[in-house]
Amino acid sequence: MNTLEQGQQALNARYPLRGNQYYPHFHLAPRAGWMNDPNGLVYFNGRYHAFYQHHPFSVEWGPMHWGHATSDDMVQWHHQPIALAPDSEADRDGCFSGSAVVDNGQLALIYTGHRWLGEVGDDSQICEVQCLATSQDGITFTKQGVILQPPAGIMHFRDPKVWHEAGSWWMVIGARDPQQRGQVLLYRGESLTSWRFDRVLAQAKVGEGYMWECPDFFKLGQHHYLLCSPQGIAAQGDRFANLFQSGIIAGHWSAGSDFTDQQVFKELDHGHDFYAPQSFAAADGRRIAIAWMDMWESPMPTKSEGWCGCFTLPRELTEEKGQLRQRPIRELQNLRGEGSNWPPQLLIEEKLLQESVEATELSIHWDLQRVSATAFGLKLGQGLTLRYQVANRSLSLTRDYSTEGLADSRRVEISDATAMQWQIYIDRSSVEVFINDGEAVLSSRIYPTGGDRQLKLFSQGGDVAVDTLHYWPLRSAIE
Ligand code: FRU
Repeated sequence: MNTLEQGQQALNARYPLRGNQYYPHFHLAPRAGWMNDPNGLVYFNGRYHAFYQHHPFSVEWGPMHWGHATSDDMVQWHHQPIALAPDSEADRDGCFSGSAVVDNGQLALIYTGHRWLGEVGDDSQICEVQCLATSQDGITFTKQGVILQPPAGIMHFRDPKVWHEAGSWWMVIGARDPQQRGQVLLYRGESLTSWRFDRVLAQAKVGEGYMWECPDFFKLGQHHYLLCSPQGIAAQGDRFANLFQSGIIAGHWSAGSDFTDQQVFKELDHGHDFYAPQSFAAADGRRIAIAWMDMWESPMPTKSEGWCGCFTLPRELTEEKGQLRQRPIRELQNLRGEGSNWPPQLLIEEKLLQESVEATELSIHWDLQRVSATAFGLKLGQGLTLRYQVANRSLSLTRDYSTEGLADSRRVEISDATAMQWQIYIDRSSVEVFINDGEAVLSSRIYPTGGDRQLKLFSQGGDVAVDTLHYWPLRSAIE
């Protein structure tokens, strides 16, 4: 049996043993074992493909494989056989993150082959190269070997994102320079196997991180956006509160030129669990992004159920009045069951919305001109509170699962407005809150136990007008 078959066999054996208390109804997660970054998001031959960093042998990160799922609508996912296993010399210790493109009717995966040169896990002695694998049917892949070696003096050199623009192939790669600063390197390709260095596209200044992982670069509206996941930025109040960050730098770029007018790095999500996002073009051209909804080194209570890691919902990125907005993709509406509404009303103290929720979407419009409360919001069981603090216009997401070692808040300020809209997706172990039609998003994992899933709205120190409230049970979307 080869390495790929061994991985598949381990996964098949572990799958029936999986626990489901936390297993998502409508977020892609591995059937069993470990998942991290989304990889190779692409539309190919009439359906969407999502790959991901996967360890089928354990709930811990280890030698990375590429897990695989397909979908007609980016919502309903079907698991497919494992696509890549670390079974060649160049990728013997892991098929690390990368991307996918369609080239001459074939699906091409471009990924990082990782090798430990010293002890396993010793980051100071590694070799990372870029590799290619291709497929006719989108299910079975043939490795084509190494397509790009690192520049002299650079060891951390990973996560290739490839795209076609202005008549050429382009590839951005995350790197750590010899001075231990994160950077993004740009290459230009005549073909997927022939690349030459173009330039350093972006470079961390002091305090901006020692390594920039998972870069992505695309045009949207009036800008080009560099999406990346820096490691090593220190927390600053509410900003950069997670161990590692993911965000965007807007600027201007054209083929053969520098990436100019770079704006400051802005986090894409303000919740606890959002890392390594990758974007891709939907069949109709919409720019969609999906991230890993976890954070390195956080407690991950689902490990006791035999699985770990899940994707965020796909979100559509748009640029409006020069600002990036993120909205849940419209296809998610296909999951809605029969909806319920509240008539407009004043919320005083507390009101029960549902006795128990597992998979629900809510849309709430608060009237900020009719509020005497000091704070208001929503609670799910004892563990999750979403609270809007009127005086400083901030929204906090607090989770309190102290037995799991998770008790902390994330907070974001909302722009001055007379009304505020929340669109919330609750799944068995996650919550995603989209504020004011995509102005800000918070994504966090939650771990309610023993049916602690009562959903309530509350107001404190006064009342607040709820203009509209709709909610829908959501159907399961994962096979
Ligand atoms: C980001 C990352 C990537 C790497 C992969 C390994 O989470 O560290 O840089 O390719 O995970 O699993």
